[in-house]
Amino acid sequence: MVGKMTNQELRSLLDEMTLEEKVNQMQQLIGAFLTDEGVVTGPMQEMGLTEERAVLAGSVLGSYGAEKLKKMQREFIEKHPHRIPLLFMLDVINGFRTVFPIPLGQGASFEPELSERCAAVAAKEAAVSGVHVTFAPMVDLVRDARWGRVMESTGEDPYLNCLFSAAMVKGFQGEDIKEPYRVAACVKHFGGYGAATAGRDYNTVELSEHTLREFYLPSYKAGIDAGAAMVMTAFNTLGGVPCSGNKWLMRDVLRGEMEFDGVLISDWAAIEEMIYHGYCADRREAAVRAAEAGVDIDMMTGIYSEHLCSLVREGKIPQKLVDEAAARILELKNKLGLFENPYKDADEKAEKEIILCEEHKELAREAARKSFVLLKNEDILPLEKGSKIAYIGPYANNRHMIGSWSIIGESKDVTTLQEAVKEYDGNAQTVFCAGSPVLGDNIKLEGFVGNEVEEAPVRDCGQMLEEAVCAAKAADIVVMALGEHYLQSGEATSHANIQVPEVQMELFRRVCEVNERVVVVLFSGRPLDIREISGKAKAVLQVWMPGTEGARAIVDVLYGAYNPSGKLPMSFPYCVGQVPVHYNEYSTGRPCVPGKDKDRFRSKYLDIPNAPLYPFGYGLSYTRFSVSKIALDKECMTRDESIRAEVKVKNIGERKGTETIQFYIRDVAASVVRPVKELKGFCKITLEPGEEQTVSFTIDDSKLQFLTESGRWESEAGKFEVFAGTDSSTVNCAEFKLN
Ligand code: NOJ
Repeated sequence: MVGKMTNQELRSLLDEMTLEEKVNQMQQLIGAFLTDEGVVTGPMQEMGLTEERAVLAGSVLGSYGAEKLKKMQREFIEKHPHRIPLLFMLDVINGFRTVFPIPLGQGASFEPELSERCAAVAAKEAAVSGVHVTFAPMVDLVRDARWGRVMESTGEDPYLNCLFSAAMVKGFQGEDIKEPYRVAACVKHFGGYGAATAGRDYNTVELSEHTLREFYLPSYKAGIDAGAAMVMTAFNTLGGVPCSGNKWLMRDVLRGEMEFDGVLISDWAAIEEMIYHGYCADRREAAVRAAEAGVDIDMMTGIYSEHLCSLVREGKIPQKLVDEAAARILELKNKLGLFENPYKDADEKAEKEIILCEEHKELAREAARKSFVLLKNEDILPLEKGSKIAYIGPYANNRHMIGSWSIIGESKDVTTLQEAVKEYDGNAQTVFCAGSPVLGDNIKLEGFVGNEVEEAPVRDCGQMLEEAVCAAKAADIVVMALGEHYLQSGEATSHANIQVPEVQMELFRRVCEVNERVVVVLFSGRPLDIREISGKAKAVLQVWMPGTEGARAIVDVLYGAYNPSGKLPMSFPYCVGQVPVHYNEYSTGRPCVPGKDKDRFRSKYLDIPNAPLYPFGYGLSYTRFSVSKIALDKECMTRDESIRAEVKVKNIGERKGTETIQFYIRDVAASVVRPVKELKGFCKITLEPGEEQTVSFTIDDSKLQFLTESGRWESEAGKFEVFAGTDSSTVNCAEFKLN
């Protein structure tokens, strides 16, 4: 293997480069600017880019395909004065062409190692297609189901998010990003983007520094500690300052405290958007602010390339800012080995062999199975092969289940539920009908282009409905495949109402009138208000947007080949008026606790419960588990000791099954109030019927630390409670003291 450039060689290269060359390393383009088919003037002019600048660019976004990228790279390098290769970056989120469940679904697996394997497969498929960097993982903590981007996150819990953040970074990058089939990861969106006010995308984020640090920042830090090569800025403001120009956030917190020394990229046009935020008067000022904050790459505006050279020459910003940014970008190219082999893993032959291969599809099926959450089951699931079942709903025979961030994934690669059921159970009594379109006329997907929105040709809705009701009447069991349109979640898909589209609810009601034995398989990118569905249906299986092999995985679970094991990574609110709702809240001075819940002056709603419909960590199985009371090996500890908490878990049902035992801690009184519960550990175990296992959890000082009044992460002496159970509502608790 040819070696990387030495630091000395990199330094000499930088010394030889002109200011223009360095600045243009900081410029990102879309591939169309560099290819024959590209419009060389239109978009470039809009971005304020000239052709001379474009040929010096540092990176390209959104292109893939070995042949195309090799050609683009070859031609680019030939023209570049210092033969510096481009970096190719792309959003490879829940898979490349083999699509895994959306990240929120992956969170439900409570199995970060599984996401590590999914990320490694995504990296492999992307790498052979010529991609060097993925804009993933998205690690924004989320509490508000109105925000469409909750689908890209792994949920509401900092501890769980940290594990997934680190696992995904490791999966993409491996030990060394230069190795074959690895891509560089980019942790995003820094920071606090998940807290957009009222769940409206791109909206202001208003978080106290305490809440930001305690809940929102840890998952970015976990990704950085796992070695993420890049970080992306967020669109939002924090404390009134847009993140892309926020010196405190980027210089003090990211580079200083978190010791991030990789490449910081702006989100799409976020540097320019500082003008619309009302933070910068014009593009030139935006260039100053972003450069001063230490943003190395300008995604999609041309502002850096337009202004940084003159700003340096006029002494308005120090040249050092440009030198440092260019050095970091070249360093990343060097770490990827691009100076020796600018094509890295791009390989047309490997693309054919690797992409969508059986092994990858098998992993997609495993990940999907493990992501499903059984929310309700009144002795109806699993189904029996050969039963007279009507599959009804717009997802009964629909390929659009890969989620809106599967840019390369194609719905034509997806098996539909109808196809998967027929593969498994050829029984002629099974019938399938849509019953309704996914969306009624009352919902407009504003801004989406026609062919993205299109579904199977919609026939007369009245006729579809009657046909479905007829089928439901004749069946022993109805499986209703319902849910959001895949474009109803993702970027810029905020919703004030979080329900299954009304046209499908009408179908659901009519079906329930004629058949009591209804199972709902629910597709969505976010927690929905499913009070009516969970009230009337006998069973509800939440399947998110399950990916390429989603339908086969659904069949595995519906017919019992796989016993469901997923746990909610985000609370399912009782209704939208309750959001943001999350289990790890602070208590109030007037908590609504048993015995006091009927009092007038309590922190409660008069019309709905405080508790979500289904809490964080919740999920059923086809078997049942008993969990014993917690036993502690001692009741007091000092900071250098630990306590072992143990529970005995027994499978008291008739089937083999997997349970996730969750351990939560509460610090009863502290210098700043503590959440009523915080997840600090979990253990996923599989037990045969009748089998019992002891599950233990070690409480050491690290589990008790928090951001104290003094601004340090430390523990405080006093009383604590430890909880163990199968979801976050557990009251199985024991007390201990830290002396
Ligand atoms: C905007 C999104 O916010 C970000 O997540 C994504 O990586 C970029 N666009 C590039 O597509």
